[in-house]
Order: sequence, then C-alpha cells, then structure tokens
Amino acid sequence: AVAALTPKSMAGRRVLITAGPTREEIDPIRYISNYSSGKMGYAIAREARLRGAQVTLVTGPTALTLPCGIDVVPVNSAEEMRRAVLERLERTDVVIKAAAVADYRPKVRAAAKVKKGASELVLELEKNPDILAEVGAMKGDRVVVGFAAETHDLIANATKKLTGKNVDMIVANDVSQEGAGFNVDTNIAKLLLRDGTVEELPKMGKDELAGVILDRITTLAEAKGR
Ligand code: CTP
Ligand code: CA
Repeated sequence: AVAALTPKSMAGRRVLITAGPTREEIDPIRYISNYSSGKMGYAIAREARLRGAQVTLVTGPTALTLPCGIDVVPVNSAEEMRRAVLERLERTDVVIKAAAVADYRPKVRAAAKVKKGASELVLELEKNPDILAEVGAMKGDRVVVGFAAETHDLIANATKKLTGKNVDMIVANDVSQEGAGFNVDTNIAKLLLRDGTVEELPKMGKDELAGVILDRITTLAEAKGR
C-alpha cells in the first residue's frame, strides 16, 4: 500500500490550500476560465482537517459542497487568490497550490457589456502573477507544494516547476491520460521531490491521493521542524 494505514496526525499544523479555477473577467457577464473542478484541492482540505490540521481553503468558483470545520476564503480572479494567499502566508506552515490559476487575464475589463459588432473581436491578454513562484521565493522553512498539469514531457516540465518555483514537491499529472486531471474523480500522479526522487503512483481516487500527498507533506514538515 502506498498510504500509511494509520495516518500521522497533522494536529497543530496550519495548512493553506488553493483549489478550483480562477475567473478572469472580460466584462460584467463574461470571463475566461478553465475546466478545473476543484475536487483535488477539496479532497486535500477534507483529509488535512480529518488529520487534525488547521485548514484554510482559498477557493475559486466550484460546484462542490464546502467542507465543514475549515476556514473558507472564496475568490474569483488570480489576483484575488494571490492576495488571499499572501495575506495569510505568515500564519501558515504548509501551502498546497492545487488551484488551476488562469495564466492570462484580459488586459482591460470592460465596465459595461461588450456589444457584438460587424467585425471580429480581438481580446488582448496579459499575464497573471505566478502565485506559487511568489510563495516559493519567500517560503522560509514552510513546506510548499505545487501541482503540474502536463500533456507531454511530464517529468521534464514538472522538474522545471519544482526547481524554478522553489517548491518542495510537485504533484505531476499527465492530463492527456484517461482517468487523470480535470473534472474526473481519479488521478494518475507522480510525486517529484527536491532530492530527485520521483514516486510513481497508480491510478487512484482523489481522496486516496490526498492521503498520500499529506503523508509525504508530513514527512517533509517533520524534517523542517514545522
Ligand atoms: N500557479 C500559480 N499561479 C499561476 C499559475 C500557476 O500559483 N499564475 C501554480 C498552480 O497552482 C500549480 C503550479 O503553479 O500549483 C503549476 O501550474 P501549471 O499551470 O501546471 O504551470 P505553469 O507554471 O502555469 O506553466 P504552464 O501552464 O505553461 O505549463
Ligand atoms: Ca498554467
């Protein structure tokens, strides 16, 4: 079994999790987003709470039921998510960034509904801040975990994120495989650590995967005295 039979307690640990997509508004009634369901992040939040952690869930819009017993911070845009995370970083031991943050946002948000015209419409997009990279740059002895969704060159791309964003672990998903990634209940993940270890996990439910991720995080936190 990949998961411990009796999971270690996370009592006293302050865990901040981001989940779901972000929405980047075009005008008052339209937005750019992605297919993230939020299931993975919510599963981690529930399991961390069961293990005794003090959990904060910064969540983009999802159709999921909010888990009870945790501090929920609803956000819409990447910029709002960034602010919610950075404001709470000081009081956090573990950061888990399961959210699918929109990489780009419309450069201008129209104050009124954009009306259709006779010609094509061109939307100019600008880059959103990379929240995980910002957190990684000032992580101190916190445990910081990111996700990587890839359709090709999984290990190479995920390794770049692991070192480039200065995080402790990347949960890498090949989203081109059936039963992995967005909007399904299972995942096929590889866990990449800073020492070069790559743990290949079998296809498993997101709830079960949440447990394995938290097992590994607990080990990392113990090593850092967090
Ligand atoms: N992430 C973030 N802020 C962003 C973009 C991504 O915090 N603006 C985080 C995600 O929450 C995830 C990790 O970075 O934990 C990797 O996200 P992913 O989309 O796979 O990688 P990117 O760095 O955005 O690169 P690309 O989409 O081009 O693969
Ligand atoms: Ca991205």
